[in-house]
Amino acid sequence: MNKPMQGKVALVAAASKGLGRAVAFELASEGANVALFSRNGQAAIDVAAEITAETGVQALGLQADVCNAEDLTRCVEETVREFGGLHILVNNAGGPPAGTFETLKEADWQYAFELNLLSIVRLVGLALPHLKESGGAVINLASSSIKQPIPGLTLSNVMRTGVAGLSKTLAEELAPHGIRVNTIAPGRIDTDRVRSLDQARADQAGITSAAYKVKTEAVIPLGRYGQPEELARVVAFFCSDAASYVTGQSLLVDGGMVKSL
Ligand SMILES: NC(=O)c1ccc[n+]([C@@H]2O[C@H](COP(=O)([O-])OP(=O)(O)OC[C@H]3O[C@@H](n4cnc5c(N)ncnc54)[C@H](OP(=O)(O)O)[C@@H]3O)[C@@H](O)[C@H]2O)c1
Repeated sequence: MNKPMQGKVALVAAASKGLGRAVAFELASEGANVALFSRNGQAAIDVAAEITAETGVQALGLQADVCNAEDLTRCVEETVREFGGLHILVNNAGGPPAGTFETLKEADWQYAFELNLLSIVRLVGLALPHLKESGGAVINLASSSIKQPIPGLTLSNVMRTGVAGLSKTLAEELAPHGIRVNTIAPGRIDTDRVRSLDQARADQAGITSAAYKVKTEAVIPLGRYGQPEELARVVAFFCSDAASYVTGQSLLVDGGMVKSL
């Protein structure tokens, strides 16, 4: 049976675990061939092998740091060489360091800029000639901080809103090429990143991380953290032809956590 993304090629950044991994799996389960990378190259290769074993599509695992322009060039080149084109780019990276304005150093700002904003600028630039050929889709993974700043995550609050601004601008500029650009903003999805942030906040409050999680879940209308697969399904929808008239949007996947309209 034909799958909806059969014949498509996706590149998913920062995908050896967490949200990126779930997105790579979801796109593959819809039939796309998938390239993915992370700094730990063996972990990326292992995920690619799991994807092929579970879904039957071709998958390519690569070693790359999103902060390294040469790595990103190599990833896009190898993806296109292996699969013959590129239809879907999912931008993702590790989270920036936590901290308030007064605790953060200039080096932290520079690092977060390169990790969470410049990496997207570079990857979109590298993918653009191929996306123009395919009329493809770009997804930028951001954070609920694009709608409501998160206390203690100053760098996320600043860089992610930059990502939202970039997405909206790209949506306008690339629409004539048939390229759609959307932002997906997770709230609390159960991954290692969220677990380590919870642990740090729990330590600060002098409670266990389990107790901290219960407090946080109480302010989420759906009453729980999300699973990576729940976010991945939304990303796959935005990449799919079912969303062919959707561009320039930012969507929260947060169980109703953010209260703004
Ligand atoms: N989970 C949530 O609810 C949530 C909410 C808001 C925002 N976010 C953001 O969404 C992004 C993904 O979060 P996550 O929860 O999936 O995190 P995670 O579980 O920590 O996974 C991060 C992934 O990114 C890779 N990575 C980290 N730094 C990288 C780099 N410099 N270059 C290439 N790959 C890199 C990691 O592999 P290596 O270590 O091998 O590189 C890993 O595969 C983060 O930016 C996070 O802040 C997540």
